[in-house]
Amino acid sequence: MEHKERVFSGVQPTGNLHLGNYLGAIKRFVDLQKDHDCLYCVVDLHAITVWQEPAELTRNIREVAAAFIAAGIDPEQQIIFNQSQVSGHAELAWIFNCVARMGWLNRMTQFKEKAGKHRENASVGLFAYPNLMAADILLYRATHVPVGEDQKQHLELARDIAQKFNNDFSDSIEKAGFADGFFPLPEPLIAGPATRVMSLRNGSEKMSKSAASDMSRINLTDDADTIARKVKKAKTDPDALPSEVEGLEGRPEAANLVGIYAALADIEVGEVLKQFGGAGFGTFKPALVELAVERLAPISGEMKRLVGEAGEIDRILNQGADRAREIANPIMSKVRQIVGFIGD
Ligand code: TYM
Repeated sequence: MEHKERVFSGVQPTGNLHLGNYLGAIKRFVDLQKDHDCLYCVVDLHAITVWQEPAELTRNIREVAAAFIAAGIDPEQQIIFNQSQVSGHAELAWIFNCVARMGWLNRMTQFKEKAGKHRENASVGLFAYPNLMAADILLYRATHVPVGEDQKQHLELARDIAQKFNNDFSDSIEKAGFADGFFPLPEPLIAGPATRVMSLRNGSEKMSKSAASDMSRINLTDDADTIARKVKKAKTDPDALPSEVEGLEGRPEAANLVGIYAALADIEVGEVLKQFGGAGFGTFKPALVELAVERLAPISGEMKRLVGEAGEIDRILNQGADRAREIANPIMSKVRQIVGFIGD
């Protein structure tokens, strides 16, 4: 039996949503809704793996939901919801804690980066984070997961967990009536010119929420002047833009800005270079500012409006959680039966 195609992805409500989150993930969520059933989740259980001030967390949850809607995801057609409102995420994550191996998680580069030198001080949740992520996806038996490049290793782990669960419980799964394994092996959708948007200050560092300098990223809430200032100050090199893609090799800052332009304009990098090859940054940067403002201003305007309407956001999230539970509950009951728990 083929698994039904279903898209799932999540964004952490940890503040400072930036252009990397938009181009690497949220914009692609919008594109995928045309011909897929999608669940887009504000992953607050992931956020608390590092300390979050409670009132700020609440605000950030609403802000991510607002960003989804402002970017163009239709909450009537698709499911926008908040992870902690669907208890199956935590429940399946526990089962996956018992399926995944310590050695697998020890290899996760993001844990090493986030825990840094203070590994002993990191929360247990931060270590087990990828198991929860696998649970997010597999609770809906989702088949496709649009993410930025930095989530690739976590997606591979989710596939390993699905595979091990299918193997460990193969007899029980067959008895429950599933001939080809219970969980699909979810496929990462990592594509396009902006799967890894880099810092504006350093072309070899990822644009991130947590970077100390706000000048390193364009936030989805930045106004036109701020965007202009950040792009103008963005690090570049002295050369003109090349006319061919190969000419960007060894020029990380130029490659980054051209990639951002291509993603915002919905064209290939080669197309951008056809237009701007031979031009210097004095010409390219103002064009990039104009495009970025044109694309981002409506989103930030709508985000601001929606954030002011907390009741409306909460209504959408509550309704989304109801619909998510409708999909998750029967799957979770099968999981309980497969594992051998006394079922419902
Ligand atoms: P998070 O909240 O860090 O980021 C949300 C999405 O934005 C992408 N992203 C980027 N893409 C391109 N360039 C960048 N500089 C950049 N920075 C971030 C991320 O790849 C991500 O797609 N673990 C996930 C959240 C999560 C999830 C899931 C995702 C939890 N459960 C299940 C998919 C499926 C995370 O921390 O994303």
